[in-house]
Amino acid sequence: MDSFEINKIVAAILMVALLIIGIGKLSDVIFHVEKPKIPGYAIEVEQAVATNSQSTPETTVEKIDIAALMAMGDLSTGEKVFKKCAACHSISKGGKNAIGPALYNVVSRKVGSVSDYKYSKALSEYGKEWTFEELNGYLIKPAKWIKGTKMAFAGLRKEKDRASVILYLNQNSDNPLPLP
Ligand code: HEC
Repeated sequence: MDSFEINKIVAAILMVALLIIGIGKLSDVIFHVEKPKIPGYAIEVEQAVATNSQSTPETTVEKIDIAALMAMGDLSTGEKVFKKCAACHSISKGGKNAIGPALYNVVSRKVGSVSDYKYSKALSEYGKEWTFEELNGYLIKPAKWIKGTKMAFAGLRKEKDRASVILYLNQNSDNPLPLP
């Protein structure tokens, strides 16, 4: 082996060594990871905010102003709204029971008191009278106001609709009550 041959081998080894070092440096540049100043993972804990339980809305009893509500109603709207009820109720004097009991004279009548109508247990045992307040509550969502009622009606969401239909019920009576 002459020196030229040895030189070639040395050069080749040097090249490989340079390549290895070069790749190492290069990958350092490409995959550079910055070391965190504080080792470990930061865990964020949400600070629980102390609430004043006395001011939560659940504790305030909802009180409706029935006079203000009834003032929103008008008879002609009530007559229109009653078309929804007419599928199950009569309203005229001497009207017959249908799917639901006859509603002539219903305002201030005892709940569940039409003698020849078969009420649910929930209504016949309710024990109150149909005041403006009771009618309003029942008509918002019957199944919620008197649990177990068999009146399959979703309810009247709009205050004006309820006020108007209650006015209309009150009007269809031998002795309409004075408005609150
Ligand atoms: C799908 C049929 C149906 C519709 C629609 C309906 N009702 Fe009734 N309603 C009933 C039934 C059935 C009862 C008896 C409930 C029971 O015994 O639990 C009832 C009971 C009542 C009572 C109690 C009467 C009493 O003698 O104690 C009132 C008041 C009443 N409905 C008003 C209305 C009004 C107002 C509407 C329209 C906004 C309406 N209902 C729509 C079926 C209906």
